[in-house]
Amino acid sequence: MRRFLILGHKVPVSGEFTLNDLPGSAGRLDVLCRAVGASLFVSHGIRRDTEVVLLIQNSVEIRIAGDRVRHLNPDERSTAALLQQALKQAASEEVQASPGIFVSRSSLESTLDELVARGAWPVVLHEDGESFDAAALPADPAFVLSDHVEFTEEERTTLEELPRLSLGPRTLHTSQCITITHYLLDGRADEVELDLVLCHKVWSEPKAQLIVGLLLDFEIPANLVRQSPPSLYPVTVNGLGEVRIMVRPRDLERARAIIRDYFEEPVEG
Ligand SMILES: C[S@@+](CC[C@H](N)C(=O)[O-])C[C@H]1O[C@@H](n2cnc3c(N)ncnc32)[C@H](O)[C@@H]1O
Repeated sequence: MRRFLILGHKVPVSGEFTLNDLPGSAGRLDVLCRAVGASLFVSHGIRRDTEVVLLIQNSVEIRIAGDRVRHLNPDERSTAALLQQALKQAASEEVQASPGIFVSRSSLESTLDELVARGAWPVVLHEDGESFDAAALPADPAFVLSDHVEFTEEERTTLEELPRLSLGPRTLHTSQCITITHYLLDGRADEVELDLVLCHKVWSEPKAQLIVGLLLDFEIPANLVRQSPPSLYPVTVNGLGEVRIMVRPRDLERARAIIRDYFEEPVEG
């Protein structure tokens, strides 16, 4: 699953704005609409493996699930209408504002916590980060971007411990960064998913995530294949909750040695 978390700074959280003035009184909602489009649309289709999360003014989260969203069209105005409808329904508990679009009150900290709890690995995209090309990425990345303005000081502080990747020295538009990221990941997916092999099996989601994080520290990307939903079966019962850690064949030996050194003898079969 790919995720994009975009921080919107000026859109009125009340949803009180006219769709005739997205760049003005709607607080550059056009930028967020383009980001949603770049995240989810391909020609004549939607990326079902992608989710977009918009965090508006550090207080309202709108989550758009690519595998469930309906009525989303490529034009900015109709996307803005769906987002406006969501904003108007924001409450402390998450509600489905329209098919596949969920809204809740939130903050950057809780949105990040929630992403991590759902198995995502937040990564900040910024000009001054490390080169994207050279980076080993987690299997479930959640890319964090700002809208048309810079991250605030408070956001920078919250994000400072996260990996920070750059798509080059030029400052690009949010939607451009998303398109480039998809392009780069699509290339890697072709490479990585062709022939992943089983490296180890565990029966605990948090442990699997720890191992993936450790492998990433050694620049070894790994995917998790779950035998049952982690939220339902966090612990094994007769094989339920089995999580397979998959790596590229060329990383297998080194990955197993690392797991052996830091955790235990890898389970091979
Ligand atoms: C239009 S830029 C933000 C505005 C800009 N920082 C400014 O005020 O001059 C939108 C976002 O795209 C991402 N971004 C822009 N250029 C990037 C690059 N070269 N590499 C990675 N991310 C980039 C960052 O997350 C940035 O906050």
